[in-house]
Amino acid sequence: MRMYDLIYKKRNGKRLSKEELYFVIQEFTKGKIPDYQMAAFLMAIYFRNMVSQEAVDLTMAMADSGQRVDLSKIPGFKIDKHSTGGVGDTTTLILAPLVAACGGRVAKMTGRGLGHTGGTIDKLESIPGFSTSITKEKFIENVSTNGLALMGQTSEFVPADKVIYALRDVTATVDSVPLIASSIMSKKLAAGSDGIILDVKTGSGAFMEKYGDALKLARTMVDIGEAAGKRMVAFITSMEEPLGYAIGNSIEVKEAVDTLKGTGPKDLTNLCIELGSNMLMVSGIVKTVDEGKKKIEKVIKNKKGIEKFRTLIKSQGGNPDVVDNPSLLPQSKKQIEVKSERSGYVEKINTYDIGLCSLILGAGRKTKEDTIDPSVGIYIRKKISDKIGRGETFAIFHTDGNERKFAEAKDKFLKAYTVGNKKVGSPRFFYAKVTKDKTEEYK
Ligand code: URA
Ligand code: CA
Repeated sequence: MRMYDLIYKKRNGKRLSKEELYFVIQEFTKGKIPDYQMAAFLMAIYFRNMVSQEAVDLTMAMADSGQRVDLSKIPGFKIDKHSTGGVGDTTTLILAPLVAACGGRVAKMTGRGLGHTGGTIDKLESIPGFSTSITKEKFIENVSTNGLALMGQTSEFVPADKVIYALRDVTATVDSVPLIASSIMSKKLAAGSDGIILDVKTGSGAFMEKYGDALKLARTMVDIGEAAGKRMVAFITSMEEPLGYAIGNSIEVKEAVDTLKGTGPKDLTNLCIELGSNMLMVSGIVKTVDEGKKKIEKVIKNKKGIEKFRTLIKSQGGNPDVVDNPSLLPQSKKQIEVKSERSGYVEKINTYDIGLCSLILGAGRKTKEDTIDPSVGIYIRKKISDKIGRGETFAIFHTDGNERKFAEAKDKFLKAYTVGNKKVGSPRFFYAKVTKDKTEEYK
């Protein structure tokens, strides 16, 4: 096989075979295909797309590029959850303990933040002592005994995705449905769980801004997972505004703790209840989604969820006292109120730019090598449809005291909000639920 011929074939819109896709992935991972040929190949996929079977084969080839995690020693049904990435998305920190408290087994590999989106590992590492670089043995032991463990990806884990993602990032080939689907699903399949709940984001802060594209991505990922024998459910939910109010790392841990205690933001709480009940249903713990919701609500009320979070922290080396005393989390040097320059109603939010504001303050990274400041971030006070008065506090910026970074972030923040004269409704949150043989679109 010659790479030239495969680029030519895809460029002309032809379908690639399983053998051809395995060849490309294996040879590129070994460093035997130069970046310029792979870049052309990725661009051909971007323009010519892939049929369903090609996306499945590409995903399998990527999942097989490194070691897969064997979870068969853990008794019961193992469930995973994944969000395509958003701003202020603290869901995993809440959902994993809630589902575990209901008897689920959450075995989750998780990533760091990149670009405008935050990462679960970064948030967890803001808890003093918490480590996500645990061994596979420890990971398996924790899921078996506590029902949950969260682990960072190791270098042997889907090496194909690392090298391909780095190339996509610099060749304008990130936002392609088969490329995103294979990138995410190869990691989910290699992580070894039996069922996966996907939260596909759409709107101004998501990779897939348009709902139609998000729907295609959800359908492609569900089909890939089902073809690999996994139980799949995908939700399409809104990223038209940040999730909850906190955007950062330690401040999102605090928001997660509040939500586990039942005093968190409404949108974040509802999302966790919806995703959590479906995780319980797919795991076979409940028979209906309504039964699952009741169970999740119960472990919030009776504090079993927050107790699980404490257990998770302790089992991975962190200080569980942060749960009762959030001041043990890294605190920012300065907290500065940003005030509105006009009065009216919030009509629209450029959520992508709000994510960048948090990054500018130091909560995120521009390149994989950047270090982050766990203490900084933004507490927004206003969401879409809220009234704001001139001079009223719009947000509280948690900063490291650097004036230049603050000024840049503040300017971007104020421009990201559209304040108008008429009150608009809150954006719809749940768009659709996609399963093996059904797409339910919500009104
Ligand atoms: N997240 C991933 O892991 N891969 C993508 O391609 C996009 C989002
Ligand atoms: Ca949040």
